[in-house]
Amino acid sequence: MPPRHFLDIDRIDARTLRRIVDMGHAMKRAGKRVPAKLTPDGIESMVLMLIFEKPSTRTRVSFDVAMRQLGGQSLALNQADLQVGRGEPIADTAKVVSRYVDAIMIRANRHATLTEYAENATVPVINGLTDRTHPCQIIADIMTFEEVKGPIEGRRIAWSGDGNNVAASWIHAAAQFKFKLAIACPPQLNPGNEVLAWAKGVGAEILLTDDPHEAVTDADCVVTDTWVSMGQQSDAPRRKQLLGAYAVDEALMRSAAPGALFMHCLPAYRGLEVSAGVIDGPQSVVWDEAENRLHAQKAILAWCLGVD
Ligand code: CP
Ligand code: NVA
Repeated sequence: MPPRHFLDIDRIDARTLRRIVDMGHAMKRAGKRVPAKLTPDGIESMVLMLIFEKPSTRTRVSFDVAMRQLGGQSLALNQADLQVGRGEPIADTAKVVSRYVDAIMIRANRHATLTEYAENATVPVINGLTDRTHPCQIIADIMTFEEVKGPIEGRRIAWSGDGNNVAASWIHAAAQFKFKLAIACPPQLNPGNEVLAWAKGVGAEILLTDDPHEAVTDADCVVTDTWVSMGQQSDAPRRKQLLGAYAVDEALMRSAAPGALFMHCLPAYRGLEVSAGVIDGPQSVVWDEAENRLHAQKAILAWCLGVD
């Protein structure tokens, strides 16, 4: 059996994704214990390796704690700690560490690094964010939506801001979980053609506009993210100029459905992509969203490790 990689939401079938989200809800209900029917036999001898080419607070801590709460162990390394930095091929690294650990999570600068690990590892590889996508985040986000609003199928989600890695995983999720997604971006910062073409090909209900008010009209949830993702610092002035009109503030939230949620994967920059009044206000669920990373990671790990 090939390893169960968690690389992207478009690469896993919709039924499995639904099961992972439902397992996340069950993990949350069970707290620090593991749900009885998900007793992960053998996990006490398992080790998760976490590799970071870029910084992380939530992904690093939630995966580490998730693995401990499941009964296993984890070890985290920065890219600079590995011989890859001195020229050892990723393929060789993936083959070697597969002999030591039971799963590898990587946060990579380039998506190709993730896929190279997956092609060469003999244990599951998990995408902890790349320049292209951030699938683990969206599993937690769907959990967060559903615990307040009920099933996400058929509902309306709006994105206002940069058409970035998080937006791309929302696009994948719109198709797989069958919700409507309206995305407002300046045309220069639209999501990539590849992900948009994929969404069109599978019949996802995606509206792409340059008007944030159009995107958020009747939305059950408004989502945004930083205007300057990791690795884009040199482009910050241009991005801030292009994205100024896409900030999520109280006026934009008034265009959404009454009681609409506000989500942000964090880290957030108040006064730029979101006003303090919105992120710290009554419609914001960002702290639950951050907490749900832990429960979602436990579900993702249970599936990848085959202990589900
Ligand atoms: N949302 C998220 O992935 O946060 P970190 O960069 O802190 O992991
Ligand atoms: N788009 C952001 C997400 C951070 C979790 C980035 O890539 O930096």
